[in-house]
Amino acid sequence: MNVIDVIRAKRDGGELTDPQIDWVIRAYTGGAVADEQMSALAMAILLNGMTRREIGRWTEAMIATGERMDFSALDRPTTDKHSTGGVGDKITLPLAPLVASCGAAVPQLSGRGLGHTGGTLDKLESIPGWRASLTNDQMLAVLREAGAVVCAAGDGLAPADRKLYALRDVTGTVESIPLIASSIMSKKIAEGTGALVLDVKVGSGAFMKDREQARRLAETMVALGTDHGVKTVALLTAMDTPLGLTAGNALEVREAVEVLAGGGPADVVELTLALAREMLAAAGIDGVDPAEKLADGSAMDVWNRMIRAQGGDPAAELPTAGERHVVVAPVTGTLTRLDALAVGVAAWRLGAGRTRKEDPVQAGAGVELHAKPGDPVLAGTPLLTLHTDTPERFETALDDLRGSYAISPDGSSGHGEDFAARSLILERVSA
Ligand code: URA
Repeated sequence: MNVIDVIRAKRDGGELTDPQIDWVIRAYTGGAVADEQMSALAMAILLNGMTRREIGRWTEAMIATGERMDFSALDRPTTDKHSTGGVGDKITLPLAPLVASCGAAVPQLSGRGLGHTGGTLDKLESIPGWRASLTNDQMLAVLREAGAVVCAAGDGLAPADRKLYALRDVTGTVESIPLIASSIMSKKIAEGTGALVLDVKVGSGAFMKDREQARRLAETMVALGTDHGVKTVALLTAMDTPLGLTAGNALEVREAVEVLAGGGPADVVELTLALAREMLAAAGIDGVDPAEKLADGSAMDVWNRMIRAQGGDPAAELPTAGERHVVVAPVTGTLTRLDALAVGVAAWRLGAGRTRKEDPVQAGAGVELHAKPGDPVLAGTPLLTLHTDTPERFETALDDLRGSYAISPDGSSGHGEDFAARSLILERVSA
């Protein structure tokens, strides 16, 4: 097999054969295909796409480079959620314990943030003592004890994807539906969950800026999961404005705990419950109302057990940033726009996110929102609070936020928009 033939075949718009795909993934993982060759192939895939057969085989080849986890020894069905990433997306935090409190096992392998979208592990690491790295046996033990576990994926899971994703990140080849779908689904299928709900974000703060593209990504991932025996459904959800009222690690944990205590922002509660219902249905669990489990404290009990089982102290004070800067509303009216991407980038600049994988993050940094689109605001009252330990970052964060919001004196967005009717959940995609 010759890598140049494989690159040329895709460059010229052809279909790769199964043996070509198996070989190139194996050879790249083992180092026989060089980074520059794989980046040429990734670019050819980005430009010319892949058929469903090619995407399926590419996914299987990546799974085959590593281990597959097996939770069949558990006495409950497994169900998991994956979000394609957004600003203020702390949903995993209340969702995993909530679904576990309803009778499912939730094995959640999560990642760290890169760029403007936060990472679940960075958020949880703001809880004193909490550890993200577990062995497979420890993961199983936490699942048995608490019903839910959120931890880092070990090096043994789809190592081809680990290497390829790092390469795509620096070669402008992330934004390809076949490559994103196979990357996400190879890890989820290898993780061994029986059911999976995908939260595919659409809008300024998401990978997928438009709905048509997001739908294609969702359909591709649902087909991949279904073909591999994982009951998979997807929700397309809006990401034009941040979820909830916070973007930043400890700030988001605090908000997630509010949801578990029966409060929290309406949009976070709505999405948590919608995803919980989908996860339970996909796992074949019916007759349990997740809203009741939030209200009666059962989900909070699981959260406390889950955090303790990973060394954390759920009662400990969460870190706060040393410095704050308040942005006030310049006029009185209705907030008609608050851009997710700008808030995400500002939170990242304040220290909540990282530029390189090895960068540290500030637990207390981020942006707090005092109003959401549709809310009334008064001139001179707080609109946003910026938090950081490094106040020299305020200026660049404020630059990012310039022009990111609009306030209309008469409550109109200029597009005849009805904020009350605006939906967070846009579409459902199933097999
Ligand atoms: N997340 C992943 O795991 N892979 C991608 O390609 C994009 C987002």
